[in-house]
Amino acid sequence: MKTTTTIKEMSILRREIAGSLGFVPTMGYLHEGHLSLVRKARAENEVVVASIFVNPTQFGPGEDFAVYPRDPERDAALLLKEKTDIIFMPSVEEMYPPGFDSWVRVDKLTQRLEGASRPGHFQGVTTVVNKLFNIVRPTRAYFGQKDAQQAIVIKKMVADLNMDLEVVVLPTVREEDGLAMSSRNTYLNPEERRSAPILFKALTLARERCKQGERNADRIRQEIISLITGNPLAKIDYVSIADPDTLEELSVLNGPALASLAVRFGKTRLIDNILLD
Ligand code: PAJ
Repeated sequence: MKTTTTIKEMSILRREIAGSLGFVPTMGYLHEGHLSLVRKARAENEVVVASIFVNPTQFGPGEDFAVYPRDPERDAALLLKEKTDIIFMPSVEEMYPPGFDSWVRVDKLTQRLEGASRPGHFQGVTTVVNKLFNIVRPTRAYFGQKDAQQAIVIKKMVADLNMDLEVVVLPTVREEDGLAMSSRNTYLNPEERRSAPILFKALTLARERCKQGERNADRIRQEIISLITGNPLAKIDYVSIADPDTLEELSVLNGPALASLAVRFGKTRLIDNILLD
């Protein structure tokens, strides 16, 4: 395994690769969710590249960029175990040198859900992912369903801008109690951690209602909200039942739908989602 911190060296390494390249972009502090992407990339490609870069442009002012958890040595050990070939770990200055002034923006999809709550977030994501794609030039890039809107936005960017790669989206990996794995779970105090599985419980309830034949999306949304509001530590940011392609809110369920939510526990903002078929 090779670790590189410069774009120049990454590009040189890339030029020497002839076969298929699987790429897993991350912000580090890796857990089983990230590693499930690496394993799939390993199974499907000749070479596997993972990036670790806590991207400042996708964090808003007052968000957790400065305190985002970092442990590059542990990450490297985990990636080595999964037989990663190259880790690309640039500095902020390497990715955004003085004078950096170009941005990639996907319009409509990014106005909703996470985009509405975190203005500018997706422009940061699409810009950095575009830069990483240009540097790493993957055959396939792997993303998690955990960040459902991010995966949808990246697929749209790849299609709209004719990027020559395949976007692979893999299921959310969860703790035993249902909490979606996230680097941010480390922010939760023990009491908040005990409360957090309520999110998956509420989403599972939504799926149950849907299976039982409920077609009124407002009623399902309301049930999710009531269950979560029952927990005094949980503060809802949004609860959405939306079209999984356009992310437009639905009032009637007559096809696939994405139930998603963002909820604060103290200072920690958690997101989760489930597909309703
Ligand atoms: P990060 O939050 O580190 O996540 C990296 C990848 O791991 C994303 O595709 C995310 O959806 C996936 N992932 C996270 N938790 C997961 C889980 N529990 N199960 C399955 N997959 C999971 O997402 C980012 O970084 C950044 O926005 C990035 C794309 C790297 C751009 O900066």
